[in-house]
Amino acid sequence: MLITFEGIDGCGKTTQLRWLREFLESLGRKVRTLREPGGSELSERIRDILLFTKENVAPRAELLLFEAARAQLVETLILPALAAGEIVLCDRFYDSTTAYQGYGRGLPLDEIAECNKIATQSLKPDLTFFLDLSLEESKNRSHNRHQDRIEQAGDEFFEKVLAGFHKIAEQSPERFHIIDASGTSRETSAKIIEIVKAKL
Ligand code: TYD
Repeated sequence: MLITFEGIDGCGKTTQLRWLREFLESLGRKVRTLREPGGSELSERIRDILLFTKENVAPRAELLLFEAARAQLVETLILPALAAGEIVLCDRFYDSTTAYQGYGRGLPLDEIAECNKIATQSLKPDLTFFLDLSLEESKNRSHNRHQDRIEQAGDEFFEKVLAGFHKIAEQSPERFHIIDASGTSRETSAKIIEIVKAKL
């Protein structure tokens, strides 16, 4: 089973992923936690370029770098883990590309969908949790953190990204769950665990 987490900076994805992992392990399930971009050595090196290059990155170059990192992660880590019966939890997956490079940067959505398909070999998450937080609240929660290249984009970009995630939710209701992340982390976690339990 593949479960992915999505949301903008400061929404608490990493904490939620950790708690879901603990819950699943308490049931005796084997869990693999991964992140995008990253997860494998090659993908972590691509992550470094994507987040910290000083050069102005062309949107299509950005798209293809995310996809290259993803292709490596899917082939070398996600598919083998799934084949071994593990539950894979991934911090971001291709919905981030649709939201950030598609709705945010404005690249054509059909091209993004095709690239996502190539990189993932058509693999789809069984469940996706979108941790929904307003831009204002997200900024309040993350104002002390050092921002990477993508996080430095302005409010207008992030409003488009948020709206993009909501469009994806409308198009994929069978797997995509919008979780209100404005409460405490424990409240958010309880909602996630309930949905996962029903799916197991
Ligand atoms: P990360 O530090 O993981 O951010 P966060 O903690 O918010 O998840 O950095 C990943 C950044 O890359 C984040 O700003 C979102 C962006 N991103 C894309 O633009 N497209 C993608 O396909 C992915 C996976 C991430």
